[in-house]
Amino acid sequence: MTDTVQLTAERAEAAAEVSVRDLTVLYRTDQGELPAVSNAGIDLPSGTITGLVGESGSGKSTLALSLMNAIPTPGRISSGSIQVNGVGDVTKLEGRALRRVRGRALGYVFQASQNSLNPLKTVGKQLMDLGRAHDVQDMRGLVRRAKELADEMGMDGARVLDSYQHELSGGMRQRVGIVLALVLNARVLILDEPTTALDMLSQAAVLDIVRKVHRQEGLTTLVVTHDMGVVSEIADRLAVMYGGRIVEDGPAMDVLQRPAHPYTRALIGATARITGDTETARALPGRPPDLTTVPRVGCVFRERCPLAMDVCAETEPQLLTWAPDRRRACHAEPTTTAATGEGA
Ligand SMILES: Nc1ncnc2c1ncn2[C@@H]1O[C@H](COP(=O)(O)OP(=O)(O)O)[C@@H](O)[C@H]1O
Ligand SMILES: [Mg+2]
Repeated sequence: MTDTVQLTAERAEAAAEVSVRDLTVLYRTDQGELPAVSNAGIDLPSGTITGLVGESGSGKSTLALSLMNAIPTPGRISSGSIQVNGVGDVTKLEGRALRRVRGRALGYVFQASQNSLNPLKTVGKQLMDLGRAHDVQDMRGLVRRAKELADEMGMDGARVLDSYQHELSGGMRQRVGIVLALVLNARVLILDEPTTALDMLSQAAVLDIVRKVHRQEGLTTLVVTHDMGVVSEIADRLAVMYGGRIVEDGPAMDVLQRPAHPYTRALIGATARITGDTETARALPGRPPDLTTVPRVGCVFRERCPLAMDVCAETEPQLLTWAPDRRRACHAEPTTTAATGEGA
């Protein structure tokens, strides 16, 4: 490791708002307990937007839920640590302490949150429930804060609080989800597939709002999505997941311009919004593995990999630094995979 690489790594560590190390999460299946996330390590540097991207089933939501120690039983975090600034290791928390952290430190907007509001209660009523669950004394203050956040996101706060879910558009519900996630002043915002169920216009609007609220509130944000186009528009940093592993990460622009893992290249190649060409945007060949089909030895991506070699069937590649602030888990030469044909 060169001095620069070492320094960059140390700096990132020092400024991380959230640090995940060696995280393994198991779900119980017919075939026993199987990992949905394996030895994952990721940092969310303070004040940045990190995009976590990968096809459906790669373990993104499982990793994101772990940040709140919210894996549903019979799933469990079997090893690893998740340090949150000012909180400590979330995997060690339970009961009241854990409930406190959810909401007050970590704000979470669930996948399909468009439908996660209670259809029978107004948003205001749900806000009160949230306040009570967190022993908020100053309910007026809570309402004021919710209205302030709603206004910040371009909504009429008073009107939103009086609304039922069915009275709000998909984009509005997503925004309400963000208001509820941030109303207790969480410093970390986690959004799971925030744009997935939305049309293109609402997608762009929601991304604008995430960007704005991220900046104005000084947040550390994680955006989980299967859509490379989304992360390319919003993320400062990028982590790519496949088969429960983080296979590549680094600064978003850098990763997009010179992807160093064949899976990242394939994802980018399949995204018309990035290649700018619907003709050449190729669908990824093959299908992503699930818990039961993911290879137990060697590289998880080898069966779909154009660069697969003998070693890939035998030894799992580790996520290693190959350039300053860039990591990849691949046995192939970085130059082989990094060349994009456009003068990289
Ligand atoms: N509650 C569960 N029980 C068993 N398997 C699960 C459960 N939740 C997710 N999985 C499996 O774990 C893997 C990762 O899922 P998930 O984290 O939802 O991926 P992603 O969010 O990237 O689509 C998938 O193979 C999925 O089928
Ligand atoms: Mg998911």
